[in-house]
Amino acid sequence: MPATEFLQRNRDKHLDELKEWLRIPSVSAKSEHKDDTARAADWLAERMREAGLTVEIIATAGHPVVLGEWRGAAEGAPTLLVYGHYDVQPAEPLDEWTSEPFEPEVRDGNLFARGSVDDKGQVYLHVKAVQALLAEDGTLPANVVFVIEGEEEVGSPNLAAFLAENAERLACDAVVISDTTMFAPGLPSITTGLRGMAYMEIRVQGPSTDLHSGAYGGAVVNPANALARIIAQLHDERGRVNIPGFYDKVRELTAEQRDGISKLPFEEENLRKEVGSPRLGGEDGYGPLERIWARPTLDVNGLLSGYTGEGAKTVLPARAMAKVSMRLVPDQDYKQVETMFIDHVRSLAPEGVTVEVLALHGGQPWFAEGSGPVFDAAARALEQAWGRKPVFIREGGSIPIVQAFQETLGAPALLIGFGLPGENAHAPNEWMSVENFHKGAEAIAMLYEGLR
Ligand code: BES
Ligand code: MN
Ligand code: MN
Repeated sequence: MPATEFLQRNRDKHLDELKEWLRIPSVSAKSEHKDDTARAADWLAERMREAGLTVEIIATAGHPVVLGEWRGAAEGAPTLLVYGHYDVQPAEPLDEWTSEPFEPEVRDGNLFARGSVDDKGQVYLHVKAVQALLAEDGTLPANVVFVIEGEEEVGSPNLAAFLAENAERLACDAVVISDTTMFAPGLPSITTGLRGMAYMEIRVQGPSTDLHSGAYGGAVVNPANALARIIAQLHDERGRVNIPGFYDKVRELTAEQRDGISKLPFEEENLRKEVGSPRLGGEDGYGPLERIWARPTLDVNGLLSGYTGEGAKTVLPARAMAKVSMRLVPDQDYKQVETMFIDHVRSLAPEGVTVEVLALHGGQPWFAEGSGPVFDAAARALEQAWGRKPVFIREGGSIPIVQAFQETLGAPALLIGFGLPGENAHAPNEWMSVENFHKGAEAIAMLYEGLR
């Protein structure tokens, strides 16, 4: 196939281009990187133009959306919408990186850099696939619209409005997303479920200033103690979330789904080694994959109070703060969960402190059966590229906008990820397999070919 030959001929060039993009620190969460984030959008727009797309950079209330279009397909041809994100997570803690986060480096066949797999590498392989087809065939078997946003890592606060405002222009037959992970090296995977998210902050205020813990301690309620008690009450001894109503809408796994999960090539001990914990744990009655893919969670993501520097300081802190996020599964609704959480945490507040609870951002869970012509074409293309039939999996992460895509545009979402277990997304030493970057591009080119 000429397009895959084009991709193979240009492997080094395409990797060098990706490295150039990865040097731009498009950290959406930090205002100090606002210009860098805009620069990453400009860079992508230029490369998409070179690939043969018509491109606009569309401003939002936050970081811009890069919209690329090619609409020259034959009458009756389908339209694919490719979604991804050019923003990245902060690189901290910096001293745990082997090479600089924004100075990409290949070691042992993996490309190390913040954003390599999440999601610049996976977006860029789509651009290269389209470029290869247009360069070799002068046409595509489908119309294509790229929607690449710069705010996924901060919860996509402006994208739902963007979709609603542009629903007609964005009409499509399927939304194709590469922002997930293959189940194992060499095993192509189609993801049919993601968890939703409700991200909260708890602020506990005690005395109006830090106090000497000897002069006042015992007579003044300590906000750090109070917050610890609140958090400790949010799970029961079976590892379940202890908020009234939390499980009311949780869809139980069917026997068939549990059976499917149990047939995947999975070793609990490998997962334990991957994460480096002394042992795994979670809700009673479920295995690790069930817990990650299909059960809701509540996790403390950050805790702040009192003295945490070198040595000891006898202080009774004035305040304490926790970031707490809940991962949600069908049919939980993040707005309802936010309300339940706020009401419940407030009810746990002991006298002597004031407790404020904020909802920072959220997104709905997503699950799809995964069938239809685009899924069939994707399964064939993945098998062609990897020589193995893809497995259908779910994942525990969240892409807040997927459910909104489905609801606003009425098109199914097809999630084909090219990450790998252990890729360190959001952590120090994030990497993407160079082989997967190239093969991923070829698989996407084959997917288009299969729509002919
Ligand atoms: N690419 C991830 C989503 C993901 C992670 C899918 C792991 C499958 C497995 C995405 O960029 C991400 O990190 N999403 C955030 C969303 C949050 C900021 C609302 C997440 O899951 O924490
Ligand atoms: Mn991502
Ligand atoms: Mn991410």
